[in-house]
Amino acid sequence: MKKSDVLWSARFSKPIADSTLQFSSSIDLDKHLYREDITGSIAHVQMLAAKKLLTQKEAQRIRKGLLEIQRELEKGTLKLSWRQEDIHTAVEKRLIQKIGQLGGKLHTARSRNDQVSLDERLYLRKSIDEIHLAIRQLQRALLRASRKYLGTLMPGYTHLQHAQPVLLSHHLLAYISMLQRDDERLRDCRNRLNRSPLGAGALAGTSLPIDRKDVARRLQFDGIAENSLDAVSDRDYVIEFAAASSILAMHLSRLSEELVLWSTREFGFLKIDDAYATGSSMLPQKKNPDVAELVRGKTGRVYGNLMNLLTIMKALPLTYNRDMQEDKFPMLDTTNTVRSCLTILAEMLSHSSFNVEELEGRARSD
Ligand code: ARG
Repeated sequence: MKKSDVLWSARFSKPIADSTLQFSSSIDLDKHLYREDITGSIAHVQMLAAKKLLTQKEAQRIRKGLLEIQRELEKGTLKLSWRQEDIHTAVEKRLIQKIGQLGGKLHTARSRNDQVSLDERLYLRKSIDEIHLAIRQLQRALLRASRKYLGTLMPGYTHLQHAQPVLLSHHLLAYISMLQRDDERLRDCRNRLNRSPLGAGALAGTSLPIDRKDVARRLQFDGIAENSLDAVSDRDYVIEFAAASSILAMHLSRLSEELVLWSTREFGFLKIDDAYATGSSMLPQKKNPDVAELVRGKTGRVYGNLMNLLTIMKALPLTYNRDMQEDKFPMLDTTNTVRSCLTILAEMLSHSSFNVEELEGRARSD
């Protein structure tokens, strides 16, 4: 590693040790934020040109370079390694390779501290929109089943004991209501995080005459994060996302638990399609509800991610601390887990059928 290879080499007399760089690199995770990173950089450069901090021509060349890098990353022709530390550094270095020293001007009036918060907010905005669609899918699957079995009675339970007969549709609609609140909680989180941190710089802004609101508008933010120290030092938006996701995961886990119970021979309420179950080579009579079990099991990851984030943040002095880099795993993992659980449950439910005779028979047996 050459001393000049890192962004902050000026006051250092020695290059960073490979071991330190490898230990501190986050590129394996934050490479997933490359689209957000490039989108944010293009808006930043356009603002710099509008404020005459760059010429239009310079801004155009930087934009073109960035779009090329995006294509290289999409095609997999640009190889990323831990030597590049993080995605922000990797993109900037590649830009300098492509367009020369002008590439360095991308860093004008910006720090990785405001940049990483921007990337995360853009990423979460997109994730929440995708999760919203996945919630709707599951709600629709539940609604279809409610309609299909409209009028079918089942035992309603308290303490897992027969309490009163209820309609199967009523039971399924309970989950639609829970999911509706989950969706609202995520929407609230999206509204609160939808503010641009750019311009906060490392922590105290910049003396250059930038226009923070201009960048915010270009990126469809509702406004700017007012306080620069807060903008670079809080991760409450990731925590709020993980908290709302934990409640959602808890609901999915309860639904899964019921699907597991209902598909047992003891209950016999539900037939899961063979395509969504597994068997056992030694015990051929078995059909295991693995999908529902895994959704129930993955709840642990989602709760764990929330605890992880809360613990990372709990004793950090203002403002940015490197500990905060550890937020990438819980953020990305929560998004992927919650989205895939919703999608597979919707698919499995659409292919499951209820045993009307069994449900009605049990409801009338009391
Ligand atoms: N990779 C870093 C992170 O995710 C980016 C910010 C680095 N800032 C710094 N001052 N070292 O937190």
